Amino acid sequence: MAAIVIVGAQWGDEGKGKATDILGGQVDYVVKPNGGNNAGHTVVVNGEKYQLKLLPAGLLSENAMPILGNGTVINLEALFEEIDGLEARGADASRLRISANAHLVAPYHRTLDRVQERFLGKRAIGTTGRGIGPTYSDKVARVGLRVQDVFDESILRQKITSALDVKNQILVKLYNRRAIEAEEIVQYFLSYADRLRPMVIEAEYEVNKGLDEGKSVLMEGGQATMLDVDHGTYPFVTSSNPTAGGACVGSGIGPTRITSSLGIAKAYTTRVGAGPFPTELFDKWGEYLQVTGGEVGVNTGRKRRCGWYDSVVARYATRVNGFTDLFITKLDVLTGIGEIPICVAYDVDGVRHDEMPLTQSEFHHAEPIYETMPAWEEDITGCRTFEELPQRAQDYLHRIEELSGCRISYVGVGPGRDETIVINDVMQS
Ligand code: GDP
Ligand code: IMO
Ligand code: MG
Repeated sequence: MAAIVIVGAQWGDEGKGKATDILGGQVDYVVKPNGGNNAGHTVVVNGEKYQLKLLPAGLLSENAMPILGNGTVINLEALFEEIDGLEARGADASRLRISANAHLVAPYHRTLDRVQERFLGKRAIGTTGRGIGPTYSDKVARVGLRVQDVFDESILRQKITSALDVKNQILVKLYNRRAIEAEEIVQYFLSYADRLRPMVIEAEYEVNKGLDEGKSVLMEGGQATMLDVDHGTYPFVTSSNPTAGGACVGSGIGPTRITSSLGIAKAYTTRVGAGPFPTELFDKWGEYLQVTGGEVGVNTGRKRRCGWYDSVVARYATRVNGFTDLFITKLDVLTGIGEIPICVAYDVDGVRHDEMPLTQSEFHHAEPIYETMPAWEEDITGCRTFEELPQRAQDYLHRIEELSGCRISYVGVGPGRDETIVINDVMQS
């Protein structure tokens, strides 16, 4: 039995899809515990690239049951579009199951996401525009719609009507938009009911029963620690808890059952959307990482902001997620760059901070304090053991391991499934 949580250790796009793909072949369930179609997880198998958004990347693992957990938010139109797209490429989505307690993204959530962002102007979050924030807001305000509601027409109508009573006032009076007809939304959801029905299960019961029987579960977190609504750079965050504790809540698996908390981090850092990013580069190296790393958002096609590895963020992520292991991806991107700066602490208005400053205002003022290591020149994409890596690459990994406060168990040297060095196998932990 293993219950492994995969968590983004930075601001997203660390390679959680690749990590899921590597481990997914060895587990019985891959549960997505949070987020919706704001994610974009890439898997490259035999040179063929898949980009999963709402669906868990574990859908591509042949023997695992992929599950959208109770903590996710589901856009049904996007769900079926993604399933159809993957099936057209030969993938099998018939094993996909969905928690009856997951929440639904309604068309009005998407509208609200966009008008709210426009209203914020310069203070905009830079969301993906998928309605994620408004859907989680409704969940917490107890006026959300759940997957199970689609199967009770009268409850569905009641909930939509009362939600729109309020939202139409906001849309019309505040944002100058047209009111939305409740019946239009009711029919939109009902049109998916028959196709959805066979996929819906009591997922929390299913995975716990599996664990009782000695089966293994992988929780494939979306987003990342620094985008967590509690632990991230609020308000420049997503609206869920992508941290390890959130994965327990979002899949119904108790914290005592977790066997490994695997943090995924790039060998440098990227961020999409607005918000503070102390090691962000505005010089030729920022552009170099963006181009060489192919740093373009899967979901929205936006260029990712790029910067050096931030070990203050890494230590923080290790702490709030209780990481047992780290997976460092994209080490190959740093090949041949001469020198590699690593952020070891911040200077905030003349004061050194070795750990995350207390306030967000201080974090906005944080200037990175760097230590520099020499880069290696050799191509490392063919390395399959730690010992095969050039000495300088080994030294870099040892240093970031020491600074991050967690052992490095996996290293990515290319996007492909096989372009990975396994130092410790979490399935055996
Ligand atoms: P996720 O959201 O965390 O799943 O990450 P994304 O898929 O959004 O972005 C990660 C990108 O890096 C994808 O294009 C991956 O194919 C790619 N990638 C993952 N690991 C490696 C690696 O070790 N080396 C290289 N060069 N690319 C990688
Ligand atoms: P994966 O799972 C990177 C960012 C958005 C925006 C903020 C809020 O691929 O790592 P939202 O639409 O969630 O309300 O947007 O969060 N964001 C991501 N950035 N990777 C992601 O997912 C992200 N999901 C959301 O860019 O700044
Ligand atoms: Mg991504």
